[in-house]
Amino acid sequence: MQTYICEICGDAYIGEEKPSECPFCGSRRAFIKNGNEANPITIQLIELSDLSKKNLQATLELEIHANAVYLCMAGKAKTYEIKAMYKRLAKVELEHASVVCKLMGIAAPGQKVELCNDEDAENFAETVKLEENATSLYVQFAKEAAEKNVRIFFTALSQVEADHIKLIKNYL
Ligand SMILES: [Fe+2]
Ligand SMILES: [Fe+2]
Repeated sequence: MQTYICEICGDAYIGEEKPSECPFCGSRRAFIKNGNEANPITIQLIELSDLSKKNLQATLELEIHANAVYLCMAGKAKTYEIKAMYKRLAKVELEHASVVCKLMGIAAPGQKVELCNDEDAENFAETVKLEENATSLYVQFAKEAAEKNVRIFFTALSQVEADHIKLIKNYL
């Protein structure tokens, strides 16, 4: 067994092999390092530009919103698989919010409550919309980031949200 560390969320994964994605924040394998080689972005504290602060604040709101929407969708899901999948997505988005707070040096806000549809099919369509919006915003925020760790963060997140679209498309 070994300890691997995700450089995006900073969490440790203990296992025989490096996972293909971080089980906590969903970042792809390239961001997961052997424990003794990891340099998580959340401990490289730096002064943030005003633009990065603004983009991180927008990200925090998006992620807290997505967390609440996915918890609602989990509650409405018609099968155990869909319920469990949305609960996992909700946790991943909450983890993204938590990383934003670490980068900004602020306390984590409370979770919200949001509404969603009663039907899985409508919720899948809504999920794709949310994730497409997040993906394109994070690609833009990565380009706008002057700070290396903020750029890496948004690059990793844009990939995670794009992976969520691929996941949902399996159900359409
Ligand atoms: Fe992670
Ligand atoms: Fe997210």
